[in-house]
Parts: sequence; C-alpha cells; structure tokens
Amino acid sequence: MPKIAYWNGRFVHPDDPVVPIEERGHQFGDGVYEVVRVYHGRPFLLHRHLLRLKRSLSAICIDNPHTDEEWAELVEDAIGRSDEQDAMVYLQVTRGIAERAHLFPAVQPSVCLTVRPVTAPALDARGSLLCLPDNRFADVWIKSINLLPNIAAKETAHRVGAVEALFVRNGVITEGSSSNAWFVRDGELWTAPDNRYILAGITRSFVLDLTERLGLAVHMEAIALEELATVDEIFMTGTTTEILPITAVFADARKMSYLKALPDLVKEPLVASVESVHTLWERPLHDGGLLTMKLQQAFRHVIADAASWPRV
Ligand code: PDD
Repeated sequence: MPKIAYWNGRFVHPDDPVVPIEERGHQFGDGVYEVVRVYHGRPFLLHRHLLRLKRSLSAICIDNPHTDEEWAELVEDAIGRSDEQDAMVYLQVTRGIAERAHLFPAVQPSVCLTVRPVTAPALDARGSLLCLPDNRFADVWIKSINLLPNIAAKETAHRVGAVEALFVRNGVITEGSSSNAWFVRDGELWTAPDNRYILAGITRSFVLDLTERLGLAVHMEAIALEELATVDEIFMTGTTTEILPITAVFADARKMSYLKALPDLVKEPLVASVESVHTLWERPLHDGGLLTMKLQQAFRHVIADAASWPRV
C-alpha cells in the first residue's frame, strides 16, 4: 500500500474509498499518468516528466489542472509527508467525474497521487526478456492508464521466468512492457526512434544525455528481431528499472510468425501460457557488459549528487 495518497485537492488515507464509481479513469481508463523516481528525498527529472504529462494530456484533450510550479509543490509536499528518501511518486490525471457516456464531458479533471517506498535494484541485478507480439494500440507515446496489454505481457514473461516482455511489432523490436530497450553492437548503441510505437522514456532521455557526455555513438533506429544475433549487449531502462543488463532473450517457438507479422484475427487469451520457449539470444554476463556498466556507473554518479538537481 502507498504511504501517502492524494485525491482532488486533499491528502487522504491510502485505504479511503475516494474514487466515485462514475469516474472516467475508473470506467474508461480515460486518463494519463507519470511515475517519478525519488532519490535522497528529491524528485528526479521532474521537469521532463511534467513535459511528457503535458503532451499526453493535450493528446487526449484534457486541460492540465496545474502549472509546473503547482505540480512541483504538490509532489514535494507529498514526498515530505511520506518522509521517504527512496520512493516513487505515481501521479494520474483523468477526465473527471461524469455520467457514463463515451463523448468527452465538460468536467474538471481528477488528480490523484501516491508516494510509496521503493528499493533500488541490486548492483548485480540481471534479467531476461520474453518476446511477445506488440498488440497495444498504435499511439503508445501517450502515457495512457490503459495498460491491459502491458500487464498481460509482463505476467506472461514472468510465467516463464523472464523479468520483462520485449514487444515486437511486424518483426521490429519496439520496447518493453514498462521499459525501453537498448542494444549495443560493435561499441555503438541502438534504441528505437521517438515515434508513435514507443513511450519515449524519461530514463531513456537521460541515458541519451549520458551517452553524449561519454562520447558514445547512438543510432535512433529500431532493431529487427532477425538482427538479434548480431547484438553484443542488451539493457532496459525505466524509472524504477534504472539500467538493467539483460542476459537472455526468449521467444515462444510456436509464435515466431506472430512476431514477424500480426495475424488478422487471433482469438487467444492475452495472458499466454508459454510452453515451448526457446532462446533467441544469450550472453551470460559476469561483468554486466562493458558499455552497459559504463552507463550504470555514470547514472549512479548523477544520483549521488541529488542536491544539485533543478526543481522544475
Ligand atoms: N513505465 N515504456 C513503457 C511502455 C513504460 O510503461 C515505461 C515506464 C517506459 C520507461 O519510461 P520511463 O523511463 O519514463 O519510466 C517505457 C512506468 C515506470 C510504469 O508504468 O510504472
């Protein structure tokens, strides 16, 4: 349970049943969200999260209920009340409360926010991925609260012992269910371009800054599933994932054709049981991978210097 909860203008007990039945987020998933990491009691990269929030809100015609300064005050107030140093802030804006009807009603947006403690990933954390067809809607650049395909994919991945799903759309790797994918080949980096098919992660944007500081070459190009064999290192990035080195990529042998082109009609459960998993790529890492480790070190260096971060 979160430690701190906020709903439409007031802090509430996290257990309080505050969301009315006819709330658009609850009934339609009609809203957007952000997850902000807190290190040393300070929100990390808040200004970038607020910028993405604005883009998501305007994409679905919801007025931003707060200025950046008001958001920063609310986030800082909530972190202060939680008394947490290592935490995540979840903030969500939905269209508001109105009688259930598909057309957008003219009502005030609803705002909710929680703060919960998080444990940073272990320094030697490693993970594996399960490739699944990217069956999400085609505007995933909007950080929508509709995450059914994402949670089903993550659940399927976990059922085969992988930490994350790796979405593949028409043979091309897009991203993870809650993280962005990176590939290293011959000392250079590849990550999918900013387009409608990925959520441009804030951690990804920060890692891009780090690559510039370290003088590393980056290709903003997606990798095809067929090219995996040519890859030396893989890592995933995300607000709570940070930079996670990957040791193996799996796929369900029976589903390889789905990964190359989505079939017209598949009536299958979203949460698949995967019985014939085979390994597409493997790199048993003791060192974490040379470039991945370099970026992890640079990342940790910035985290240690929280006092110098800008407010918004
Ligand atoms: N997820 N891609 C998807 C689909 C995501 O849901 C996320 C983040 C990312 C990484 O974005 P960022 O670096 O801004 O966290 C990429 C959040 C953490 C979540 O849903 O909990």
